[in-house]
Amino acid sequence: MNAATPQAAVQVQSVHKSFGAQHVLDGVDLQVAQGETLAILGQSGTGKSVLLKLIIGLQQPDTGSIRIHGQEVAGSDMRKMNELRQKIGFVFQSAALYDSMTVEENVAFPLKRHAQLSDADRRTRVQELLASVGMEEALGKMPDEISGGMKKRVGLARALALAPDILLFDEPTTGLDPITSAEIGELILKLQRERKVASIIVTHDVQVARMVADRLALLRDGRILITGTFEDLKNSHDAFASKFLSSAWQG
Ligand SMILES: Nc1ncnc2c1ncn2[C@@H]1O[C@H](COP(=O)(O)OP(=O)(O)OP(=O)(O)O)[C@@H](O)[C@H]1O
Ligand SMILES: [Mg+2]
Repeated sequence: MNAATPQAAVQVQSVHKSFGAQHVLDGVDLQVAQGETLAILGQSGTGKSVLLKLIIGLQQPDTGSIRIHGQEVAGSDMRKMNELRQKIGFVFQSAALYDSMTVEENVAFPLKRHAQLSDADRRTRVQELLASVGMEEALGKMPDEISGGMKKRVGLARALALAPDILLFDEPTTGLDPITSAEIGELILKLQRERKVASIIVTHDVQVARMVADRLALLRDGRILITGTFEDLKNSHDAFASKFLSSAWQG
């Protein structure tokens, strides 16, 4: 087996994951360099969310290797996992805000747990984070007082709190109108430009994938069927890949 490429921020090799008799991932290989954005596409139920959970260590693969900056995640102990997790921001499929906390408290939460900041410094940091996603006005609001798109932005601000160099997004634009989706896309592009994060974006939104991703990967039958630029996939001779993109893309 190849050693991890030194520059890979995330490297997944031969990962298998089953739930009972259901083989969800059946030998997944992918890698993302620092500063690169990879979009993962695939039909509902193909294991995209499972793959992200494996990368962040919320679930364990049955076999295979997952390295973050060269360090093995699969089978790591809790302490090491917590350390690695702080370098990774995770924007969940549902925004997953804490309903009983204000927007400010939601974003402050990871800082309280993992950063040694005075109350005043933490407040300032939360304000900066919310300003960076255009949500500074919502500081004192409760999650059920803001729209779905706003929740996604707050989820993004929270994921950025510990200045991660890897960001995982699970459906960052699902359920949003095209204009709000494009705004989230712009935010992701801004993060790439300003922070050179490595990102993996799981999405059904081919337009957003085209907008933000350097490469796209199509997950099918438990494996990455094809990887390439949007044009590569669209012009691919693989019937499923070209159909998948053209059915989702009317441009
Ligand atoms: N904890 C679990 N226990 C049992 N089965 C699971 C678990 N998590 C996921 N699965 C199963 O694994 C399969 C892949 O789920 P996953 O959530 O990764 O799909 P997905 O590609 O993200 O789909 P969607 O596009 O609808 O979000 C599904 O059949 C799901 O039921
Ligand atoms: Mg999913």
